[in-house]
Amino acid sequence: MNKKQIEAMPINEKLLELIAPQGLKIRRDIVETGDKIARIYFISSYPEKPNLGWISSLANIKHTVISIYVNPVDPQTFLDGLKKGTNSDKNIYNTTRDEVEKIRAEARYKASIRIIEDIENNNNSYVYVSIVAQVSGNNEVELEENCKIFKNRVAVLGMRVRSLAFMMDKAYRQVAPFGLQDKEIFRISKQNMQVGTLMAGQPFSGSGFADKTGYYLGSDESGRMIAVDIFNKSADRTNSNMTIVGQSGGGKSYAVKKIILNEYISGTKIAIIDPEKEYKDMCLKIENSRWIDCSGGIGENVGRINPLQVFNLATVDLEEDRETKKSALALHFQNLGTFFSLYFKDTLSVRSIAILNEVLEELYRKFNITWKTDISLLNNEDFPIMEDLYNLLLKKQDESEDNRKEDYEQLSSIIRELAIRSRFTNF
Ligand SMILES: Nc1ncnc2c1ncn2[C@@H]1O[C@H](COP(=O)(O)OP(=O)(O)O)[C@@H](O)[C@H]1O
Ligand SMILES: [Mg+2]
Repeated sequence: MNKKQIEAMPINEKLLELIAPQGLKIRRDIVETGDKIARIYFISSYPEKPNLGWISSLANIKHTVISIYVNPVDPQTFLDGLKKGTNSDKNIYNTTRDEVEKIRAEARYKASIRIIEDIENNNNSYVYVSIVAQVSGNNEVELEENCKIFKNRVAVLGMRVRSLAFMMDKAYRQVAPFGLQDKEIFRISKQNMQVGTLMAGQPFSGSGFADKTGYYLGSDESGRMIAVDIFNKSADRTNSNMTIVGQSGGGKSYAVKKIILNEYISGTKIAIIDPEKEYKDMCLKIENSRWIDCSGGIGENVGRINPLQVFNLATVDLEEDRETKKSALALHFQNLGTFFSLYFKDTLSVRSIAILNEVLEELYRKFNITWKTDISLLNNEDFPIMEDLYNLLLKKQDESEDNRKEDYEQLSSIIRELAIRSRFTNF
């Protein structure tokens, strides 16, 4: 290779600054490196059961770098230490007159007993963990702001932090990327931790979407598998609703179809409302499927939705997941109320809605449907359609002599309009 071909690699200033900081200056609780300033903390307590991936949550706090040191413990020495600790805590508890001291001793005692039980009964291993965090900023104001954000985020994770003031030099050694563990910092900051808790903190541990009964959906940003059963319910998943968001061409339709097909093969009943005919091909290729054209007209696939058809949802209360004694017709009246008030938002007064409800009740009675009817015994043709409602309104209009005539008139004209606009019937 001749000289001309050698190309110098550009200097990575950020890396250089990190491994060979310029103008290092240590103050009481601030480290200055070049034009940046920083403060160093350690995590002084952890919750008993931290969230999955808690280490990645810590590592992803802005303007913060963390260093983690893990030292193995000799189980017997560790146990002996714990036992000694429990004895002295017991002593403190029994002798001190300081209430706060008493409470602290009791808490320490209980924590130690829990760990001893865990080791003796469950055979769990423990390690010493020391996490030191360096928060930086371009100036003092920014630093204070960033420290506040850091402390809040740590508090949300259920942990507590303490500053390493007066020890910034040693703390800096431990947090800097040289791999130097400082003995004193480690001694101050170490906390015992179950190995499982440490492992569960790693970024690759579960994302919370690995349902046993689920199907493979894809992977998340760190490559972890996502398997969901959308019907799984838990404290943070109280329903099965889903929104799919993404830029165009990002794979939303692909994801929806994948979910639909996976649900289909697990036996889920699927209804797709598809104004853009996007799912027609897929639907036609699936066994036992039906594609229904709801846009009116005539033809083989044309179907109509009859808003007056009562559905037999009454026996199962979806919210409570148990049988209810609510009448199907009563439930349907609620739906109809919503339907009409959405459709005729500004036209229908409260009075008109009340009258409409009366007429509807009469209409259903004519079709032998009452509050007590068992809807499961009826066929699609057993229900009234909008035309029947219209005709009944006309009849009432003709028969009535009082001021209701006008109401019936208004109602029949809007029902006619509705029927024509949405082609629910062939007028
Ligand atoms: N996970 C995937 N694997 C392979 N191809 C994909 C995947 N997701 C999307 N595609 C393809 O990318 C293109 C755009 O996806 P699409 O679902 O239509 O996007 P969107 O609906 O978000 O606009 C389609 O050709 C689709 O087949
Ligand atoms: Mg799409």
